[in-house]
Formats: sequence, C-alpha cells, structure tokens
Amino acid sequence: MSVLDVIKTRRSIRRFKKKPVPDEVLYRLKEALIWAPSAGNLQDRHFYLVYNEDLKKEIAKAALDQMFITEAPVVLIGCSDLSTVAPYRERGMALYTHHDMGASIQNLLLAAKEEGLGTCWIGAFDNRKVAELLSLPEDLIATAIVPIGYPAESPSPTPRYGMERFFTVLE
Ligand SMILES: Cc1cc2nc3c(=O)[nH]c(=O)nc-3n(C[C@H](O)[C@H](O)[C@H](O)COP(=O)(O)O)c2cc1C
Repeated sequence: MSVLDVIKTRRSIRRFKKKPVPDEVLYRLKEALIWAPSAGNLQDRHFYLVYNEDLKKEIAKAALDQMFITEAPVVLIGCSDLSTVAPYRERGMALYTHHDMGASIQNLLLAAKEEGLGTCWIGAFDNRKVAELLSLPEDLIATAIVPIGYPAESPSPTPRYGMERFFTVLE
C-alpha cells in the first residue's frame, strides 16, 4: 500500500481480537514512534506499554469508562517529557510537546495499519488519574492513550469535508 492509501484507509478501531501482538511487530511500531520528528530533535517523549489486565481496566475507567480499551492486548500511553523540552521554555512545554506527541502517535497509527493492526487515538481521559495509575514522575505528562490490537471490526470510512473548506491559496 502507498503511504496515502494507508493514511486514507486507517480507521479508529474500537473492537479487538484477543490475539497478542508479536514482539517483532511491536518493535516496528516502537520504531515508528521514536522516528517521528520533534522540535529541535529533543525527543521529549516516553511511552508506557500496558499488558496488565487490571491496569488496563483502571486506565479505561480513567478514560471516561471507554471500556473497549481493555479489549486490546496492549495499551500504549504516550507521555510528554517536560524536562527534556525545557530548553524551549514556555513555547516548548505548551506547544511543541503537543506537536511532538501528535507526530509520534500518527506514525504509530499508520505503522499499525500497515501491519494489519487496529488502533484508536484516545484523548478523553483524566490525566491526573492516569499519572497516579502509572506512578508517573512529575515531568511526564500523559497526553495520549492508544489501544493496539488486531481489529474485530471494519468500520465504514469516516467522512471528511471537501477540499475547499481546508485550504486558502494565496498567489
Ligand atoms: C486528539 C484525538 C482524541 C481522540 N479521542 C478519542 C477518544 O477519547 N475516544 C474515541 O473513541 N476516539 C477518539 N478519537 C478518535 C476520533 O474520534 C476519530 O479519529 C475520528 O472520529 C475520525 O475517525 P477515524 O479515526 O476512523 O478516521 C480521538 C482522535 C484524536 C485525534
């Protein structure tokens, strides 16, 4: 598949098979995460991979009871590392962290799609609760949750607005 085909056919998956994700596949997903660009190449991110069933359940509860998260064999939590981005001060902490994590997560979603895996980018969760569950050090801010597993559903394409809505061409 071309990169554009992967981009266009990726869907958020909210039902997963029990089948585990092989280590070598997971390794490629980790590569996708860390090879994303970051401001000043500071690489201000750290990822938790959760396999523990009880912990997955608590994370799902902290994500406004999105219990489908527990169906995935592995759940990734992306954390922005404020101490690493500190050289960029306020702009780094308030803005670049979000860019950098977004780039990593999108890489992950696309790499997973290429591997035949399903993912769902989860942004609705109680950050403080997740920090507590993972015993996060103060400098790590949980910014994204992604359940990863083999899809047990194939959702229809989600619509996008027409091109004209998004672009202003200045000549
Ligand atoms: C920042 C962000 C936060 C999101 N949070 C959630 C979420 O908490 N729960 C959920 O089920 N989907 C969540 N999504 C997935 C979106 O609902 C989904 O991407 C959108 O509806 C388009 O569908 P698609 O991913 O299949 O193209 C989130 C996506 C993004 C980018």
